[in-house]
Amino acid sequence: MYNPFSLIGKKIFVTGSSSGIGASIAIESSKMGAQIILTGRNAVRLNDTFSQLDGKENIQIVGNLTNLEDIDSIIEQLPILDGLVLNAGVLKTMPVKNITTSAIEEVFNTNIISSIKLVQKLLKNKKINKGASIVFISSISSFNVKIGNSLYSATKGAINSFMKVLALELASQKITVNSIQPGFIKTRALSSGIITDEQLDAHAKIYPLGFGKPSDIAYACVYLLSDASEWVTGSVFTIDGGVTSNGGH
Ligand SMILES: NC(=O)c1ccc[n+]([C@@H]2O[C@H](COP(=O)([O-])OP(=O)(O)OC[C@H]3O[C@@H](n4cnc5c(N)ncnc54)[C@H](OP(=O)(O)O)[C@@H]3O)[C@@H](O)[C@H]2O)c1
Repeated sequence: MYNPFSLIGKKIFVTGSSSGIGASIAIESSKMGAQIILTGRNAVRLNDTFSQLDGKENIQIVGNLTNLEDIDSIIEQLPILDGLVLNAGVLKTMPVKNITTSAIEEVFNTNIISSIKLVQKLLKNKKINKGASIVFISSISSFNVKIGNSLYSATKGAINSFMKVLALELASQKITVNSIQPGFIKTRALSSGIITDEQLDAHAKIYPLGFGKPSDIAYACVYLLSDASEWVTGSVFTIDGGVTSNGGH
């Protein structure tokens, strides 16, 4: 059947696929025919995503991406990739005057430094195929700033800048590199008490299309992982239910 968005025959590695957006990207990509390699720290949640994948050749690798030994071990276990989704991330909010060194390290190591090291080591180990697609999950927080969000916003802005340079450096190998910056998607990260139900209800009102679902991001990611987007590189895709057109917040 004619389908320019098919992922049949592609091997795709999704970081942070034990929950939320990453799990949905992995599941939807498997439904489009890809072989998926999952990774996350929590083995139980990772296995739950694994059980929802289509196909028989999928792999799951438990690991902490802020640990260099784990990155090396993950890379050893990976096949040559046609797709890489750098989605693992953490949200921490605090006013600038309260920022601690451990908070800087946690947010920067998880959200940007681990992805830089992972990509660099994958390239050095020739684990990324010619014509592959790399997708970073950034956030509208890269430009739509809120009090308390300085560390998170800084890492998400850094992802977009890093992505654009990588896109230029890999274009000769026809590897495309893009980022998606979602607005509010209700996942574990945002339902774990960081934000109260009252704050959530108030926040939902500024979203013209309401809050998003993980699959709203996964479908955009499928496009970027497919051959339909072979001429798309260095681009930042805002997918936010209209909130930033509405003035953001
Ligand atoms: N939800 C939103 O509204 C929203 C909006 C914009 C952008 N984003 C971005 O989307 C991405 C996914 O977020 P989410 O909302 O789906 O959150 P989530 O459900 O908490 O998922 C985060 C994922 O990252 C993994 N992870 C975190 N630290 C890790 C580490 N050190 N090593 C390996 N894996 C690690 C987690 O794995 P374990 O739990 O197994 O450790 C989990 O699979 C993040 O980059 C986030 O910034 C989310």
